[in-house]
Amino acid sequence: MKRILITGAGGQIGSWLAPRLRDLYGAANVLVTDVRHLGPEVTEAGPFQVLDATDASAVAQAVMGHQADTVYHLAAILSATGENDPGLAWRVNMSSLEAVLEVAREQACAVFTPSSIGAFGPDTPKDPTPQDTIMRPATMYGITKVAGELLCDYYHTRYGVDTRGVRFPGLISYGAPPGGGTTDWAVDIFYKASSAGRYTCFLGPESQLDMMYMPDAIDALVGIMEADPERLVHRNAFNVTAMQLTPTSLAAEIQKHIPDFEIDYDVDPVRQSIADSWPDRIDDSAAREEWDWSPSFDAAAMTVDMLEHLTN
Ligand code: NAD
Ligand code: SER
Repeated sequence: MKRILITGAGGQIGSWLAPRLRDLYGAANVLVTDVRHLGPEVTEAGPFQVLDATDASAVAQAVMGHQADTVYHLAAILSATGENDPGLAWRVNMSSLEAVLEVAREQACAVFTPSSIGAFGPDTPKDPTPQDTIMRPATMYGITKVAGELLCDYYHTRYGVDTRGVRFPGLISYGAPPGGGTTDWAVDIFYKASSAGRYTCFLGPESQLDMMYMPDAIDALVGIMEADPERLVHRNAFNVTAMQLTPTSLAAEIQKHIPDFEIDYDVDPVRQSIADSWPDRIDDSAAREEWDWSPSFDAAAMTVDMLEHLTN
């Protein structure tokens, strides 16, 4: 049975991943950590520890104390927050990854590190964006993601560490709110649609980005770490996507269920310029070929499920 440690587990992804891993591998085998204290639904369901992932010796002690063989490293600063404080994004994203990779090298752990569509930049082909292509991001977040991908591949080729990752698109979920990203509008819109019947979007109406519903993202996280290493040509990191949305197209999907729903726009120039530098549609055929990636939710199915959960 795997012995797992999750960093940054209190966020949008971790709040879904921790219960899934505890179900799959046994609660006692999954040490959930975050820099802040989390609620009883997390801390009473299995082992929990407050852990600053930038503190290399604390990370090493936690991994060794739990006898972890796998680390899901989720702690990070996201794109919009990162543009407000680029120094913080660099420090948190890079020093936490270095801490995790170093202990993984010493303790022979496997490491999952999420990359992002934010690793691409304005010079990248936008539609489709190939698996292997130009990566010159225009944000500090993206710079940390490209550097992180390279560092993870380096630890694999140089030290044999089993590092794996995916480039997530914008993730849509209920539960823990998103943590300061450019794609947060695609979550906010559901909350405002179900509570107020209207939403003011911070991106323009035709801004197209890749998106994915969280249950598919959790399947990707588990699927890549369970994948047969013999089949992996790539490692850090695989393009994965499930749908392409614009504010206009998602509003139309919501209007099928809430006919009076209205959307208007108050464009935030910082987040708009980040979105404009990202792909319109990424090509995830390498993930499909190398570890059978296949999402279950399209925009219609995701909208039904989101509204059902938020209304209930
Ligand atoms: P989030 O902002 O919701 O959660 C991040 C968590 O990290 C928070 O609980 C925060 O308390 C914690 N954290 C921050 N600094 C920390 C530190 N120094 N030590 C330990 N924990 C710390 O982020 P998320 O959406 O869950 O994203 C997790 C990972 O997935 C990140 O690497 C992010 O870049 C990546 N990702 C997310 C998305 C998305 O749409 N959510 C898309 C692509 C990639
Ligand atoms: N959802 C993330 C963000 O917008 C993409 O990595 O920052």
